Amino acid sequence: MARPFLVLLFLSSLSSFLTPSHSQQQQQQLTLNYYQNSCPKFDQIMQDTITTKQITSPTTAAATLRLFFHDCFIGGCDASVLVSSTPFNKAERDADINLSLPGDAFDLVVRAKTALELSCPSVVSCSDILAVAARDLVTMMGGPYYTVKLGRRDGLLSKSSLVEGNLPRPTMSMTHLIKLFASNGFTLSEMVALSGAHTIGFSHCNEFSANIYNYSKNSQSDHSYNPRYADGLRKACADYHKNPTLSVSNDIMTPNKFDNMYFQNLPKGLGLLSSDRGLYSDPRTRPYVEMYAANQNAFFEAFSRAMEKLSLHGVKTGREGEIRRRCDAFN
Ligand code: HEM
Repeated sequence: MARPFLVLLFLSSLSSFLTPSHSQQQQQQLTLNYYQNSCPKFDQIMQDTITTKQITSPTTAAATLRLFFHDCFIGGCDASVLVSSTPFNKAERDADINLSLPGDAFDLVVRAKTALELSCPSVVSCSDILAVAARDLVTMMGGPYYTVKLGRRDGLLSKSSLVEGNLPRPTMSMTHLIKLFASNGFTLSEMVALSGAHTIGFSHCNEFSANIYNYSKNSQSDHSYNPRYADGLRKACADYHKNPTLSVSNDIMTPNKFDNMYFQNLPKGLGLLSSDRGLYSDPRTRPYVEMYAANQNAFFEAFSRAMEKLSLHGVKTGREGEIRRRCDAFN
Protein backbone atom coordinates (compact mmCIF):
# COMPACT_ATOMS: atom_id res chain seq x y z
CA MET A 1 0.00 0.00 0.00
CA ALA A 2 2.90 2.30 0.70
CA ARG A 3 4.26 1.95 -2.84
CA PRO A 4 2.36 4.68 -4.73
CA PHE A 5 3.37 7.15 -2.06
CA LEU A 6 6.98 6.09 -2.33
CA VAL A 7 6.88 6.38 -6.13
CA LEU A 8 5.34 9.84 -5.84
CA LEU A 9 7.98 10.86 -3.33
CA PHE A 10 10.68 9.52 -5.63
CA LEU A 11 9.24 11.37 -8.67
CA SER A 12 8.91 14.63 -6.80
CA SER A 13 12.47 14.49 -5.49
CA LEU A 14 13.66 13.51 -8.98
CA SER A 15 11.85 16.47 -10.52
CA SER A 16 13.27 18.86 -7.94
CA PHE A 17 16.66 17.41 -8.77
CA LEU A 18 16.14 17.86 -12.52
CA THR A 19 14.37 21.23 -12.36
CA PRO A 20 16.88 24.05 -11.99
CA SER A 21 16.50 26.16 -8.87
CA HIS A 22 15.53 29.81 -9.16
CA SER A 23 19.13 30.96 -8.85
CA GLN A 24 20.29 28.38 -11.41
CA GLN A 25 17.63 29.68 -13.79
CA GLN A 26 18.90 33.23 -13.33
CA GLN A 27 22.46 32.11 -13.96
CA GLN A 28 21.47 30.19 -17.08
CA GLN A 29 20.14 33.38 -18.64
CA LEU A 30 23.61 34.91 -18.63
CA THR A 31 25.76 34.45 -21.73
CA LEU A 32 29.34 35.19 -22.73
CA ASN A 33 28.44 37.36 -25.73
CA TYR A 34 25.44 39.15 -24.22
CA TYR A 35 26.31 42.60 -25.62
CA GLN A 36 27.53 41.40 -29.03
CA ASN A 37 24.64 43.07 -30.88
CA SER A 38 23.30 45.57 -28.35
CA CYS A 39 26.69 47.11 -27.51
CA PRO A 40 29.34 45.87 -29.93
CA LYS A 41 32.04 48.13 -28.50
CA PHE A 42 31.53 46.82 -24.94
CA ASP A 43 34.84 44.91 -24.72
CA GLN A 44 36.85 47.72 -26.29
CA ILE A 45 35.37 50.44 -24.10
CA MET A 46 35.92 48.36 -20.97
CA GLN A 47 39.52 47.58 -21.89
CA ASP A 48 40.35 51.21 -22.69
CA THR A 49 38.74 52.61 -19.55
CA ILE A 50 40.30 50.03 -17.25
CA THR A 51 43.79 50.35 -18.71
CA THR A 52 43.79 54.14 -18.49
CA LYS A 53 42.50 54.11 -14.91
CA GLN A 54 44.91 51.42 -13.71
CA ILE A 55 47.90 53.23 -15.23
CA THR A 56 47.00 56.53 -13.57
CA SER A 57 45.96 54.94 -10.24
CA PRO A 58 47.69 51.58 -9.70
CA THR A 59 45.72 50.86 -6.53
CA THR A 60 42.56 50.48 -8.63
CA ALA A 61 43.00 46.75 -9.29
CA ALA A 62 42.89 45.60 -5.68
CA ALA A 63 40.27 48.20 -4.83
CA THR A 64 37.96 46.91 -7.57
CA LEU A 65 38.45 43.25 -6.69
CA ARG A 66 37.47 43.94 -3.08
CA LEU A 67 34.53 46.11 -4.13
CA PHE A 68 33.26 43.29 -6.33
CA PHE A 69 33.56 40.72 -3.53
CA HIS A 70 31.69 42.97 -1.11
CA ASP A 71 28.96 43.53 -3.70
CA CYS A 72 28.48 39.83 -4.43
CA PHE A 73 28.32 38.68 -0.80
CA ILE A 74 25.49 41.08 0.02
CA GLY A 75 22.40 40.20 -2.01
CA GLY A 76 24.38 38.91 -4.98
CA CYS A 77 26.46 40.55 -7.71
CA ASP A 78 23.96 43.29 -8.46
CA ALA A 79 25.91 46.54 -8.02
CA SER A 80 23.95 47.30 -4.84
CA VAL A 81 27.23 48.42 -3.24
CA LEU A 82 27.52 51.29 -5.75
CA VAL A 83 24.30 53.05 -4.74
CA SER A 84 24.68 56.26 -2.73
CA SER A 85 22.70 56.92 0.43
CA THR A 86 19.77 59.32 0.39
CA PRO A 87 17.99 61.05 3.29
CA PHE A 88 15.55 58.09 3.21
CA ASN A 89 17.98 55.23 2.77
CA LYS A 90 21.36 54.43 4.30
CA ALA A 91 22.90 52.39 1.49
CA GLU A 92 25.22 49.37 1.57
CA ARG A 93 28.32 51.41 0.80
CA ASP A 94 27.86 53.40 4.01
CA ALA A 95 27.96 50.32 6.21
CA ASP A 96 30.95 50.56 8.53
CA ILE A 97 32.95 47.79 6.84
CA ASN A 98 32.48 49.36 3.39
CA LEU A 99 33.74 52.82 4.36
CA SER A 100 37.30 51.70 3.58
CA LEU A 101 36.39 50.71 0.01
CA PRO A 102 38.62 52.99 -2.05
CA GLY A 103 37.13 55.73 -4.20
CA ASP A 104 39.22 54.63 -7.19
CA ALA A 105 37.13 51.50 -7.64
CA PHE A 106 33.86 53.47 -7.67
CA ASP A 107 35.45 55.98 -10.00
CA LEU A 108 36.44 53.26 -12.46
CA VAL A 109 32.84 52.04 -12.71
CA VAL A 110 31.57 55.60 -13.21
CA ARG A 111 34.06 56.16 -16.03
CA ALA A 112 33.18 52.90 -17.77
CA LYS A 113 29.46 53.56 -17.38
CA THR A 114 29.78 57.08 -18.80
CA ALA A 115 31.68 55.84 -21.84
CA LEU A 116 29.25 52.96 -22.38
CA GLU A 117 26.17 55.19 -22.05
CA LEU A 118 27.51 57.37 -24.86
CA SER A 119 27.91 54.36 -27.13
CA CYS A 120 24.84 52.31 -26.16
CA PRO A 121 22.51 54.08 -23.70
CA SER A 122 20.69 52.06 -21.04
CA VAL A 123 22.03 48.74 -22.26
CA VAL A 124 24.94 47.69 -20.02
CA SER A 125 24.35 47.04 -16.32
CA CYS A 126 26.63 48.39 -13.61
CA SER A 127 26.90 44.88 -12.20
CA ASP A 128 28.30 43.55 -15.49
CA ILE A 129 30.76 46.46 -15.58
CA LEU A 130 32.01 45.61 -12.08
CA ALA A 131 32.31 41.87 -12.81
CA VAL A 132 34.32 42.44 -16.01
CA ALA A 133 36.48 45.17 -14.43
CA ALA A 134 37.46 42.88 -11.54
CA ARG A 135 38.39 40.10 -13.99
CA ASP A 136 40.35 42.33 -16.37
CA LEU A 137 42.29 43.90 -13.52
CA VAL A 138 43.22 40.52 -12.01
CA THR A 139 44.56 39.53 -15.42
CA MET A 140 46.35 42.86 -15.81
CA MET A 141 48.17 42.30 -12.49
CA GLY A 142 49.50 38.97 -13.75
CA GLY A 143 46.67 36.77 -12.50
CA PRO A 144 44.59 34.30 -14.47
CA TYR A 145 41.96 35.11 -17.10
CA TYR A 146 38.58 33.52 -16.43
CA THR A 147 35.27 33.85 -18.23
CA VAL A 148 32.57 36.21 -16.99
CA LYS A 149 29.04 35.61 -18.26
CA LEU A 150 26.99 38.75 -18.83
CA GLY A 151 23.40 39.89 -18.60
CA ARG A 152 23.16 40.73 -14.89
CA ARG A 153 20.63 43.36 -13.96
CA ASP A 154 21.23 45.94 -11.25
CA GLY A 155 19.56 45.40 -7.90
CA LEU A 156 16.66 47.45 -6.60
CA LEU A 157 17.70 47.35 -2.96
CA SER A 158 20.77 48.65 -1.12
CA LYS A 159 20.64 48.74 2.67
CA SER A 160 23.52 49.17 5.06
CA SER A 161 21.59 47.18 7.66
CA LEU A 162 21.99 44.04 5.52
CA VAL A 163 25.79 44.19 5.63
CA GLU A 164 26.99 43.71 9.22
CA GLY A 165 27.83 40.10 9.96
CA ASN A 166 27.56 39.06 6.33
CA LEU A 167 31.05 40.12 5.22
CA PRO A 168 34.18 38.55 6.67
CA ARG A 169 36.20 40.41 9.28
CA PRO A 170 39.76 39.54 10.32
CA THR A 171 38.58 39.26 13.92
CA MET A 172 36.19 36.40 13.11
CA SER A 173 37.26 32.88 14.13
CA MET A 174 38.09 30.40 11.39
CA THR A 175 34.92 28.47 12.21
CA HIS A 176 32.92 31.66 11.78
CA LEU A 177 34.64 32.47 8.47
CA ILE A 178 34.16 28.94 7.15
CA LYS A 179 30.45 29.09 8.06
CA LEU A 180 30.06 32.49 6.41
CA PHE A 181 31.54 31.26 3.14
CA ALA A 182 29.58 28.01 3.35
CA SER A 183 26.34 29.95 3.83
CA ASN A 184 27.13 31.64 0.52
CA GLY A 185 27.77 28.27 -1.12
CA PHE A 186 31.57 28.25 -1.03
CA THR A 187 33.65 25.23 -0.02
CA LEU A 188 36.82 25.29 2.06
CA SER A 189 39.08 25.11 -0.99
CA GLU A 190 37.13 27.91 -2.68
CA MET A 191 37.33 30.08 0.42
CA VAL A 192 41.10 29.63 0.59
CA ALA A 193 41.50 30.26 -3.15
CA LEU A 194 39.41 33.45 -2.98
CA SER A 195 41.45 34.66 -0.01
CA GLY A 196 44.40 34.54 -2.40
CA ALA A 197 43.05 37.90 -3.61
CA HIS A 198 45.15 39.26 -0.73
CA THR A 199 48.17 38.75 -2.98
CA ILE A 200 47.54 42.36 -3.99
CA GLY A 201 46.36 45.50 -2.25
CA PHE A 202 46.56 47.05 1.19
CA SER A 203 45.13 46.86 4.68
CA HIS A 204 44.81 49.78 7.03
CA CYS A 205 46.77 49.51 10.28
CA ASN A 206 43.63 49.46 12.41
CA GLU A 207 42.68 46.10 10.81
CA PHE A 208 45.60 44.32 12.52
CA SER A 209 46.87 46.76 15.20
CA ALA A 210 45.43 44.61 18.00
CA ASN A 211 47.77 41.83 16.85
CA ILE A 212 50.96 43.88 16.99
CA TYR A 213 50.57 46.23 19.97
CA ASN A 214 50.02 44.98 23.54
CA TYR A 215 48.77 41.66 22.22
CA SER A 216 49.08 39.88 25.57
CA LYS A 217 50.68 40.26 29.01
CA ASN A 218 53.91 38.68 27.80
CA SER A 219 54.04 39.67 24.20
CA GLN A 220 53.61 42.73 22.06
CA SER A 221 52.44 40.69 19.09
CA ASP A 222 50.58 37.55 18.13
CA HIS A 223 53.00 34.59 18.06
CA SER A 224 51.80 33.49 14.67
CA TYR A 225 53.69 36.45 13.16
CA ASN A 226 57.30 36.19 12.09
CA PRO A 227 58.88 38.37 14.85
CA ARG A 228 60.83 40.56 12.42
CA TYR A 229 57.74 41.08 10.33
CA ALA A 230 55.80 42.10 13.45
CA ASP A 231 58.57 44.59 14.30
CA GLY A 232 58.36 46.05 10.83
CA LEU A 233 54.59 46.37 11.06
CA ARG A 234 54.84 48.12 14.43
CA LYS A 235 57.20 50.66 12.89
CA ALA A 236 55.10 51.13 9.76
CA CYS A 237 51.96 51.70 11.82
CA ALA A 238 53.54 53.68 14.67
CA ASP A 239 51.56 56.79 13.77
CA TYR A 240 48.26 55.15 12.87
CA HIS A 241 46.26 56.81 15.66
CA LYS A 242 47.17 60.22 14.31
CA ASN A 243 47.03 59.08 10.72
CA PRO A 244 44.29 56.50 10.25
CA THR A 245 44.97 56.25 6.51
CA LEU A 246 48.29 54.45 7.16
CA SER A 247 48.24 51.09 5.44
CA VAL A 248 50.50 48.16 4.61
CA SER A 249 50.71 45.78 1.64
CA ASN A 250 48.80 42.54 2.10
CA ASP A 251 51.62 40.64 0.37
CA ILE A 252 54.91 42.01 1.63
CA MET A 253 57.02 40.09 -0.93
CA THR A 254 55.34 40.87 -4.30
CA PRO A 255 52.66 43.46 -3.50
CA ASN A 256 51.98 44.48 -7.07
CA LYS A 257 51.83 41.07 -8.65
CA PHE A 258 48.92 38.68 -8.67
CA ASP A 259 50.75 35.43 -7.91
CA ASN A 260 50.77 32.67 -5.27
CA MET A 261 53.24 34.50 -3.01
CA TYR A 262 50.42 35.19 -0.51
CA PHE A 263 50.27 31.44 0.17
CA GLN A 264 54.05 31.08 0.28
CA ASN A 265 54.10 33.86 2.90
CA LEU A 266 51.63 32.23 5.27
CA PRO A 267 53.82 29.34 6.54
CA LYS A 268 56.57 31.90 7.23
CA GLY A 269 54.35 34.00 9.50
CA LEU A 270 54.09 36.73 6.89
CA GLY A 271 50.30 36.83 6.73
CA LEU A 272 49.09 40.33 7.55
CA LEU A 273 45.56 39.81 8.90
CA SER A 274 44.75 37.25 11.56
CA SER A 275 42.30 35.70 9.08
CA ASP A 276 45.22 35.25 6.67
CA ARG A 277 47.43 33.55 9.25
CA GLY A 278 44.44 31.53 10.43
CA LEU A 279 44.23 29.84 7.03
CA TYR A 280 47.58 28.23 7.76
CA SER A 281 47.14 27.54 11.46
CA ASP A 282 43.76 25.84 11.03
CA PRO A 283 44.08 22.17 10.01
CA ARG A 284 40.91 22.42 7.90
CA THR A 285 42.35 25.05 5.56
CA ARG A 286 46.10 24.42 5.79
CA PRO A 287 46.19 21.65 3.11
CA TYR A 288 44.80 24.10 0.56
CA VAL A 289 47.29 26.79 1.57
CA GLU A 290 50.08 24.26 1.11
CA MET A 291 48.73 23.17 -2.25
CA TYR A 292 48.38 26.72 -3.61
CA ALA A 293 51.80 27.69 -2.18
CA ALA A 294 53.47 24.77 -3.93
CA ASN A 295 51.71 25.17 -7.25
CA GLN A 296 50.74 28.51 -8.75
CA ASN A 297 48.81 26.82 -11.56
CA ALA A 298 46.66 25.01 -9.01
CA PHE A 299 45.95 28.35 -7.32
CA PHE A 300 45.13 30.12 -10.60
CA GLU A 301 42.84 27.28 -11.64
CA ALA A 302 41.03 27.25 -8.28
CA PHE A 303 40.84 31.04 -8.13
CA SER A 304 39.40 31.21 -11.65
CA ARG A 305 36.67 28.64 -10.93
CA ALA A 306 35.84 30.30 -7.60
CA MET A 307 35.66 33.75 -9.20
CA GLU A 308 33.39 32.44 -11.96
CA LYS A 309 31.16 31.06 -9.22
CA LEU A 310 31.34 34.28 -7.20
CA SER A 311 30.46 36.29 -10.32
CA LEU A 312 27.22 34.32 -10.69
CA HIS A 313 26.30 34.58 -7.02
CA GLY A 314 22.71 35.81 -6.60
CA VAL A 315 22.61 37.45 -10.03
CA LYS A 316 19.34 39.10 -11.03
CA THR A 317 17.62 38.93 -14.39
CA GLY A 318 14.34 40.20 -15.82
CA ARG A 319 12.13 42.22 -13.52
CA GLU A 320 14.25 41.46 -10.47
CA GLY A 321 16.52 44.26 -11.57
CA GLU A 322 17.04 47.14 -13.95
CA ILE A 323 19.72 48.69 -16.14
CA ARG A 324 20.63 51.68 -14.04
CA ARG A 325 21.25 54.92 -15.89
CA ARG A 326 23.72 55.99 -13.19
CA CYS A 327 25.47 53.38 -11.14
CA ASP A 328 25.08 55.32 -7.90
CA ALA A 329 21.29 55.71 -8.01
CA PHE A 330 18.22 53.61 -8.76
CA ASN A 331 16.33 54.74 -11.88
C1 HEM B 1 38.62 35.42 4.30
C2 HEM B 1 37.96 36.45 4.54
C3 HEM B 1 38.41 37.85 4.28
C4 HEM B 1 38.66 38.80 5.21
C5 HEM B 1 38.55 38.65 6.71
C6 HEM B 1 39.07 40.00 4.51
C7 HEM B 1 39.40 41.19 5.11
C8 HEM B 1 40.00 42.24 4.47
C9 HEM B 1 40.46 43.45 5.12
C10 HEM B 1 40.26 43.79 6.58
C11 HEM B 1 41.08 44.20 4.19
C12 HEM B 1 41.73 45.55 4.41
C13 HEM B 1 40.78 46.67 4.05
C14 HEM B 1 41.33 48.01 4.32
O1 HEM B 1 41.99 48.20 5.34
O2 HEM B 1 41.11 48.92 3.50
C15 HEM B 1 41.02 43.49 2.95
C16 HEM B 1 41.55 43.92 1.78
C17 HEM B 1 41.35 43.29 0.57
N1 HEM B 1 40.56 42.19 0.35
FE1 HEM B 1 39.84 40.96 1.75
N2 HEM B 1 39.06 39.74 3.18
C18 HEM B 1 38.64 38.46 2.98
C19 HEM B 1 38.44 37.85 1.76
C20 HEM B 1 38.59 38.46 0.55
C21 HEM B 1 38.14 37.95 -0.71
C22 HEM B 1 37.37 36.66 -0.89
C23 HEM B 1 38.51 38.85 -1.67
C24 HEM B 1 38.26 38.83 -3.16
C25 HEM B 1 37.95 37.79 -3.88
C26 HEM B 1 39.22 39.90 -1.01
C27 HEM B 1 39.85 40.95 -1.64
C28 HEM B 1 40.57 41.93 -0.99
C29 HEM B 1 41.44 42.87 -1.67
C30 HEM B 1 41.79 42.87 -3.15
C31 HEM B 1 41.93 43.73 -0.68
C32 HEM B 1 42.85 44.94 -0.89
C33 HEM B 1 41.98 46.17 -1.10
C34 HEM B 1 42.73 47.42 -1.45
O3 HEM B 1 43.95 47.40 -1.61
O4 HEM B 1 42.08 48.47 -1.59
N3 HEM B 1 39.22 39.66 0.34
N4 HEM B 1 40.34 42.30 3.14
